Amino acid sequence: MCGIFAYIGTKEAIPFLLEGLKKLEYRGYDSAGVATLDNGRIFSSKHAGKIVELETELQKRPIGGKIGIGHTRWATHGRPSDENSHPHCDCKGELAVVHNGIIENYLQIRRDLAEEGHHFASTTDTEVLAHLIEKFLKKRGTSLEEAIRSTLKIIEGSYAIAVIAQKEPNKIIAARKGSPLIIGLKEGEFFVSSDIPAMLKYTSQIIYLNDLEIATITGYDVKVQSLKGDKIKKESVLISWDPESAEKGGYSHFMLKEIHEQPKAIRDTIAGRVKIESSFIHFDELNFTEEEARKINRIVFTACGTSWHAGLVGEYLMEQYVKIPTEVEYAAEFRYRHPIVDENTLVIAISQSGETADTVGAIWEAKAQGAKVISICNVVGSTIARESHGVIYTYAGPEIGVASTKAFTTQLTIIYLFALYLAKKRKSIPISEVKKMIGDLIEIPDKMERILLKEKEIEKIAKKYYKSNNALFLGRGKGFPVALEGALKLKEISYVHAEGYPAAEMKHGPIALIDKNMPVIVLALQGRRYEKVLGNIEEVKARGGMVISIVSEGDKDATEKADDIIAVPSTTEALSSILSVIPLQLFAYYIAVKRGCHVDQPRNLAKSVTVE
Ligand code: G6P
Repeated sequence: MCGIFAYIGTKEAIPFLLEGLKKLEYRGYDSAGVATLDNGRIFSSKHAGKIVELETELQKRPIGGKIGIGHTRWATHGRPSDENSHPHCDCKGELAVVHNGIIENYLQIRRDLAEEGHHFASTTDTEVLAHLIEKFLKKRGTSLEEAIRSTLKIIEGSYAIAVIAQKEPNKIIAARKGSPLIIGLKEGEFFVSSDIPAMLKYTSQIIYLNDLEIATITGYDVKVQSLKGDKIKKESVLISWDPESAEKGGYSHFMLKEIHEQPKAIRDTIAGRVKIESSFIHFDELNFTEEEARKINRIVFTACGTSWHAGLVGEYLMEQYVKIPTEVEYAAEFRYRHPIVDENTLVIAISQSGETADTVGAIWEAKAQGAKVISICNVVGSTIARESHGVIYTYAGPEIGVASTKAFTTQLTIIYLFALYLAKKRKSIPISEVKKMIGDLIEIPDKMERILLKEKEIEKIAKKYYKSNNALFLGRGKGFPVALEGALKLKEISYVHAEGYPAAEMKHGPIALIDKNMPVIVLALQGRRYEKVLGNIEEVKARGGMVISIVSEGDKDATEKADDIIAVPSTTEALSSILSVIPLQLFAYYIAVKRGCHVDQPRNLAKSVTVE
């Protein structure tokens, strides 16, 4: 879960590397480093800590060169330290490697290489790559590409790498297996990056590198070959993301900006895919035949983190409207527990990044068992999108804040639309209802805007509760996944211990925690379970707890009982999660700000988890 950025061109590499790495800092930020080739020699600088520290060091001791590789790290093997920071070099410092991923068989390789006389400077898994390449390069007549190919054939695990070497000083070699890597093209300049936003300032023309592909990038062109050395023809793709949208745009944090982008993100996600009059619902890359839609008899959502919460909402929607038994599985559990799925099972993988290692693994497992796999992804061309039989993209645009916000609500939007799509195909609800439900969805972005206008109100409530070290989130039905998501947001960014519970379960344990210091956030929207939720609020109040209720506009009863309320516009129960999560995102955001936390890069977390 690290970030790689590399540059080769006609200008000094360091400013590009630093800027690219800063944009990738969300992927890991415990140490950073760069290496350049200047007049045929390798120079490097690497440090524990954030990228600004590397930048300060480079101001004191600059290094030059028009070819360079950079890395921002999220430690897996070896604690964050100067020595363990990337790039890693061979014994003589004649080549440098940056790596994202995990080399699973590094211990044995390291032992063997040490016996052969190699000297290791770090405790990372990555360093074996540098020494293996060094070893193969020593063989007479071996090119850098050949040495890297031989190295990659030996290692097990996942990698995205960029390599520079004195022996062939006019190139960068990049390769991947299981970790993302893209190449950006511009006249006379080339970039390598772990993601698209880091590249957008320079170019929108990119090449996606696939697993087991190796790219040789010179100042003139990019050549891609397989591990066997066969040439691979690659087409570049034009990315339509606006570079501005990858910047903070005046907001103090990416998370706040992304919360505010939700109405637009939902509009983009719906655009062109629905028409009310004809109940038209269409997804471009779904690859799902009428027959397949009719024959499925089970649906399994699989995902991690916030995307898993979206799957939970999906479970309610699919069972209610499509009337197919549905389950939601943590991807890491699903992939290893011998799941029983077959060709009549539809597995829906949900992922913002499209690179989450466990979700990729779950897809492989589902495919191996013969299931049809469709993914809901935000990143076009990502691994999960490519590994699935079909994909429905959310059009949330780049999400940089580690805590997922707009990705979640766009996932909910797609799940809702896909449920309607299946319901229509299977005739499980009348067409008139499909039309009505499309209409309800189209109203959501405007309603979201009304909630966002309440930001100051929510900030005030956060100010009242920000010193509490615990919080409980309660919801019933589709409010339950929202309670989980509200609790996750709060714990992720403000380090407040928070739990989400089905409201009815509170009395089976969590109620023991309630006292005057425990804020309890209750999803108390109008709907079938409203009266029951009122009962749960009473139970909290009777024990001296503080209640913050999320209510429907015009609400009376829950409002009277609560200490604080945030009212959201009314919508149908099926869409309530998309609206009611927004106040919880803002609540978590302002609590984190008041507690002085690093909102966009919370400690120990990473945006994209590309290791198991
Ligand atoms: C990490 C992120 C979460 C995200 C989860 C799944 O834990 O911090 O925000 O929900 O990964 O990521 P994905 O990209 O697969 O949705």
